[in-house]
Amino acid sequence: MFDRFDRRIDYLRVSVTDRCNLRCSYCTPERPVRRIAPESVLSFEEIAGFTACAAAMGIRKVRLTGGEPLMRRDLPVLVGMLAAVEGVADLSMTTNGVLLPRFAAALRAAGLRRVNVSLDSVDPAAYGEKTRGGDLRDALAGIEAARAAGLAPVKVNCVVKESPDEADARGVQRYCDERGLTARFIREMDMKSGRFAVVSGGSGGDCSRCNRLRLTSGGLLKPCLFSDLAFDIRAMGYREALAAAVGGKPEHGARSTTHQFYEIGG
Ligand code: 5AD
Ligand code: SF4
Repeated sequence: MFDRFDRRIDYLRVSVTDRCNLRCSYCTPERPVRRIAPESVLSFEEIAGFTACAAAMGIRKVRLTGGEPLMRRDLPVLVGMLAAVEGVADLSMTTNGVLLPRFAAALRAAGLRRVNVSLDSVDPAAYGEKTRGGDLRDALAGIEAARAAGLAPVKVNCVVKESPDEADARGVQRYCDERGLTARFIREMDMKSGRFAVVSGGSGGDCSRCNRLRLTSGGLLKPCLFSDLAFDIRAMGYREALAAAVGGKPEHGARSTTHQFYEIGG
């Protein structure tokens, strides 16, 4: 699929839940958040059916996101369904890693290729603060479990305020260097100001080369993180929603007021 600006759209990010077991300060507001009504959460059949339609139209890469994707019950079952979709050449997941010791082997067996694990610090106190209560040992155990299960490459996502020179980021870089892992540094984005992220070694934040669509766990297809455009895949039908999202994908992001990171998975 090509959009109006001749960008090839071949990447679908699928948020499978808006729930998370951490509450990272840059992602989740401190006040209690409104959750998607359980009955509007897409079923595995709907996600796989939509993905099959998207793959038939040219989507080649699929990434599972959240919230925290492993908070969705039986996620390896969904992975198996998506791995069986013809045309999907790259199936990956972005996770905080906390539940990987429990699920890494099953995910690999079901057909997941690789994971990106969020790790904003290797200092236990700073990690606990940034995640509002997370235990660094859980995340590190998750990274080890992913490696042991053969999910490769394991990439480490580290959100920085301004630059990879910050102390926490340097610690993460050192940790990755010692283990042969790839660290990716992502500028913290403020959804309200609409500031864009620069991802070193990644593909986000460059609108002229943006190849992605995002599906929320409630069934809205979003062509751009920094836009309120959203197409309801149930109401419109999968093909029509895909055509509308690709056709309406903005040249540049402006700002989004309707979605937060914990709903859309970055
Ligand atoms: N700015 C930048 N990246 C963010 N993420 C979540 N919230 C933000 C934000 N405000 C990204 C991080 C994290 C992934 C799940 O989503 O990269 O690792
Ligand atoms: Fe793509 Fe929108 Fe992000 Fe720009 S802001 S890179 S168009 S998703």
